[in-house]
Amino acid sequence: MDLTNDKKDVVILGIESSCDDTSAAVIRNGVLLSNVTASQAVHENFGGVVPELASRAHEQNIVPVVDQALKQAGVDKSDLSAIAFTRGPGLMGSLLVGVSFAKGMARALGIPMVDVNHLQGHVLAHFIDEKDVERAKPSFPFLCLLVSGGNSQIVLVKAYNDMQVIGQTIDDAAGEAIDKCSKVMGLGYPGGPIIDRLARQGNPKAFTFSRPNIPGYDYSFSGLKTSFLYFLRDQLKEDPQFIEHHKEDLAASLEYAVVDILMKKLRLAVKDLGIRQVAVAGGVSANTGLRNAFYDYAKRYHWEVFIPKFGFTTDNAAMIAITGYYKYLDGDFCSIDKPAFSRVAL
Ligand code: KG4
Repeated sequence: MDLTNDKKDVVILGIESSCDDTSAAVIRNGVLLSNVTASQAVHENFGGVVPELASRAHEQNIVPVVDQALKQAGVDKSDLSAIAFTRGPGLMGSLLVGVSFAKGMARALGIPMVDVNHLQGHVLAHFIDEKDVERAKPSFPFLCLLVSGGNSQIVLVKAYNDMQVIGQTIDDAAGEAIDKCSKVMGLGYPGGPIIDRLARQGNPKAFTFSRPNIPGYDYSFSGLKTSFLYFLRDQLKEDPQFIEHHKEDLAASLEYAVVDILMKKLRLAVKDLGIRQVAVAGGVSANTGLRNAFYDYAKRYHWEVFIPKFGFTTDNAAMIAITGYYKYLDGDFCSIDKPAFSRVAL
């Protein structure tokens, strides 16, 4: 295979299939041309992602999603410089669909394949350029709060391909805790956007839930989750309609606690490292309370904050394609024998 780039343009097809979104995107010279995502409604009835159903849905979606991404971009597969794909972390069955597809397609076209760490993709979502859109980008080094359904980390980002996790959750992720509390309240799945919507009408100081007390920049959300559960259990004994009567205040107080925990550790890291460029990434960065807290801290503590475009916060292939683009420029390719991985830090 010829790994040298004799084409003028660098055109990357990105493929993401780590959880329950099948997504494909095309990026030319760092500029997004298309970003197509098929989400899987099948999990809603189960209150969480069912891995086997996710894999089957990826199987059904991957060909039409890739086809549409190429068509929307106006790019022929012969124009592609490389194919980037999420190699992990994620659900193994889901990952295997995207990984196998990407490897097969790259091999058939005789072009390089670039493996992408999903978490690095979330961070580099800040560098996706769109035609005719001006967006400020962080400069290196910066700190990134990476908060999703599976991760809560503070990342020191030194360069596109050089990142260090300086703090992370020792148990539940922030999104996972919100989703679980929402499930206990009998709300739909995923809970994050529902809690966000309800919280807008509630009082964040109505109820207080426990905060973790752990050293350094690490997080913990299991104590908060348990305190939420016990509180509900006790209140429901007195008033079986407690959740119905107080769902806005419960959502607002839960969100307030999660945001407070996230921001306090982030502030500690900013102070210690003396880095004032602070970004947020991952699905939970769509949260209104967290976004407002970023703007508030920016004013109060003179941070320069970077919040990704809404559509780039949850899982998408544009972030995989942009990461693939920077790895491609570094000549950092993947061999066909590199397997998918379900768990690993950044
Ligand atoms: O990054 P992501 O799409 O997938 C993972 O890689 O985990 O994040 C999904 C998480 C879920 O826990 C979901 O409830 C949460 O992001 N989420 C939100 C909001 N939108 C999505 N959490 C709070 N507020 C939101 N608006």
